[in-house]
Amino acid sequence: MGLTQLGVIGGGGWLGKALLLPALADGAVAGEALTVSSRSAPVAGFEPWAVRQTKDNAALAADADIVMLSVRPQDLDAIRLDLTGKLVISVMAMVPLAELAARFKARRVIRAMPNAAAEKRLSFTPWLASPETTVADCAFAERFFRASGMAQRVETEADLDYFTALTGSGPAFLAAFADAMISDAVTKGIERDIAERAVRQLFLGGSALMADSGQTPAEIMQTYLAYAGTTAAGLEAMAAADIRTPIARGLTAAAARAAAGTNSR
Ligand SMILES: NC(=O)c1ccc[n+]([C@@H]2O[C@H](COP(=O)([O-])OP(=O)(O)OC[C@H]3O[C@@H](n4cnc5c(N)ncnc54)[C@H](OP(=O)(O)O)[C@@H]3O)[C@@H](O)[C@H]2O)c1
Repeated sequence: MGLTQLGVIGGGGWLGKALLLPALADGAVAGEALTVSSRSAPVAGFEPWAVRQTKDNAALAADADIVMLSVRPQDLDAIRLDLTGKLVISVMAMVPLAELAARFKARRVIRAMPNAAAEKRLSFTPWLASPETTVADCAFAERFFRASGMAQRVETEADLDYFTALTGSGPAFLAAFADAMISDAVTKGIERDIAERAVRQLFLGGSALMADSGQTPAEIMQTYLAYAGTTAAGLEAMAAADIRTPIARGLTAAAARAAAGTNSR
């Protein structure tokens, strides 16, 4: 039996490459078993591997056991394929499992929601599988998405919509928090470029500490509160100003938008 053939429609795009280059480097996908398509093929970046590139989605699909969709939602209507009997994996926001199954006549369908950190192999990628998927299908998804970060199976479309907000949009929310800190520093007389460097390094260092700390984020805060120093003063003032409410509102709005897109299609 030959290698499982993967065809990625839109695989030369921003997210497609961010997922595929680590998967190729890790051997989760073999170059000779991968075809990527785009309307402007060939795209640069796949030179180290024997990846095939095409503009012909029908030819890509005919050769593939697994077809992955990584085009923008507005480009989906132009892709009309019968993918009966194949595994379909979509990384597109707001296109639900049932729609993917109906459009492509596929029963084995997986939806995943990586984030921008895939490029750094630091995505958190929840994925959701239709009941008809096999153990091998799910093992492929787990291995593929693990190459660009951390993969997590979820059980409902509502969960996937929530993660579309929490971790799909998450890098932008961290940028918003960082920008608020930079703006404050600038109002206190710090030069903007120094404030930007300081806050970028802060997020890198703080994230690294949190990532492998034995403490939960809540416990880390408690440690600082118990220390009762300058950090505690800051945390108490943020709590008094109800910092959690705007964060919860932002996540709720983003998740509602993701769910509205999912439910309206
Ligand atoms: N970027 C993120 O952070 C992120 C995170 C999670 C999920 N997503 C999802 O990922 C999907 C892709 O986003 P992206 O940021 O990677 O967009 P992108 O950079 O524009 O990539 C989309 C790719 O699709 C290709 N394409 C469009 N129509 C096509 C067609 N008919 N046949 C073959 N290829 C086609 C485009 O190339 P040509 O124009 O040359 O055809 C382009 O390379 C979206 O649905 C988005 O919801 C993105």
